Amino acid sequence: MRPRRPVTALLCLWLWLWLCVTVAAAVPAQAADEDLDRALARVIASRGLEPLELPPLVPSPKFRLGQMLFFDPILSGTRDVACATCHLLGRGTSDAVALSVGVDAAGLAEERRPLGAPRVHPRNSMDLWNRGHESVRNMFWDGRVSEIEAPVSRFRTPMGDYLPDGLESVLAAQALFPLAGEEEMLGLAHDRSAPDLPGGHGDRPNEIALAALGLDEDEPQLFVAVHDALMRRLLGRAGTPLADWQIAYRRLVGRAYPERMLGDIAMGDLANAIGHFQALAFVTRDTPWDRYLAGDAGAIGEAAKRGALLFYGKARCAACHSGPLFSDFQFHSLAAPQIGPGIDESGDDRGRFEATRIPRHLYQFRTPPLRNVTLTPPYFHSGAVTSLADAIDHHLAPPAVAGAGVETAGEEAPDPAIEALRRESFSPMLRRGVALSEDERASLLAFLESLEDAQTGRRPLIVPESVPSGLPVPALVAGN
Ligand code: HEC
Ligand code: HEC
Repeated sequence: MRPRRPVTALLCLWLWLWLCVTVAAAVPAQAADEDLDRALARVIASRGLEPLELPPLVPSPKFRLGQMLFFDPILSGTRDVACATCHLLGRGTSDAVALSVGVDAAGLAEERRPLGAPRVHPRNSMDLWNRGHESVRNMFWDGRVSEIEAPVSRFRTPMGDYLPDGLESVLAAQALFPLAGEEEMLGLAHDRSAPDLPGGHGDRPNEIALAALGLDEDEPQLFVAVHDALMRRLLGRAGTPLADWQIAYRRLVGRAYPERMLGDIAMGDLANAIGHFQALAFVTRDTPWDRYLAGDAGAIGEAAKRGALLFYGKARCAACHSGPLFSDFQFHSLAAPQIGPGIDESGDDRGRFEATRIPRHLYQFRTPPLRNVTLTPPYFHSGAVTSLADAIDHHLAPPAVAGAGVETAGEEAPDPAIEALRRESFSPMLRRGVALSEDERASLLAFLESLEDAQTGRRPLIVPESVPSGLPVPALVAGN
């Protein structure tokens, strides 16, 4: 062996020193990470946390039927709004605006603008992730559609005894309602479809709203009238010539329910298909947090680990955002600011109270699930809060201290008596306030980011290229 030259020896020494220093610096960080993993392992064990179970995506005929119905604007009175208009895959299955705009508008998401007099939905569009999961027992911000354990009927909904038989899930039951919402999909009896719609759909009367004329929006019979008229539009009537889309829908229905006669197919069957489609299509399939729960310690970073410990510990988030979907599916009040037209005559939205009329339910809203919450700003039932950081901050201090509930985005000053009631309703669970440092709040955000599905942008099977009516599919860009 040749003796080493002094330069090489020096270089080796230098390298060795550098290595020592780097390793010494890395050791505490690694130790801290391992401490975090140990602390989290205790939380995970005590709460029994597990990766979310995923239903396989099988594009069955029933899935196809549900998919077409979800994306086809023919389901709306004025043929211009589909479910997907307000639940866009490219906006995390929501629509990126504070308050949704349904019929008589153009554009999508941030670009959506009313064409005539604005008809704004009073609430923020919800996301649809994982709503087929067994822990989901109710629907809507006020839970007005819910599953009950009673011998008479499985579901409690605004349709009362008129609810179709054979509904398979609370998700299927939900689908019956946007169809009959005046500012959502139904429109008004004097509306006509826009003249420039393709495929013979332009300038047509709204026979669906006409069928419900004279019925009050609280009357269960209104839903029945709307659903019957919609079935006629979609499937046509025996003995009359059929439009192309009616032939296509008859075929889709026949394939989805091969054992049934077409004449026996009812609105409940279509709702079941829509529910089935959503349950399989909108599943968070690949989140760092689930990978961490499955044993991959490197799936989330140190900040997210600290955030998880805060979420399940000191920050008390899991008191309400519990279970596999990060919601207890119960109702609480955060005295969140109210904007927009509201739901009652006075322009207010009293949440769960609107559905039950029980005073202790005043201003309570259903705890929103948090998977993919990073994708669906703005936040809260009225969409009044734009950033996720502000949404978290809003929880931390009761309104008497923070003055929340009075930010009305340039609208008329709210009635002080109403504001006092709203503040009083603030959840007792959070009333003592939660003191978190800047760092801790950043960690909570990092944890919420670890609940985001990396695959949401790659879902070729979900958004169809066309629908039976030939009307444009509401999607932001191909596949979204
Ligand atoms: C005009 C926009 C709009 C349209 C069209 C629309 N939705 Fe929604 N969706 C919303 C809003 C807003 C909410 C929350 C409403 C509430 O709480 O009162 C919501 C709530 C939901 C929920 C409840 C989710 C949960 O966790 O409780 C589901 C499911 C849903 N929509 C599916 C559908 C389906 C299926 C259709 C088509 C039949 C549809 N939506 C049409 C805006 C819309
Ligand atoms: C007392 C029950 C409760 C606790 C505790 C709680 N939340 Fe919430 N959270 C809610 C309710 C209810 C809403 C919806 C309020 C509304 O819209 O009026 C909400 C809304 C949110 C939203 C907005 C989601 C959306 O889709 O609009 C986020 C994000 C959130 N919470 C995160 C957290 C975090 C992080 C913590 C812990 C610091 C926490 N929450 C603690 C009940 C709770």
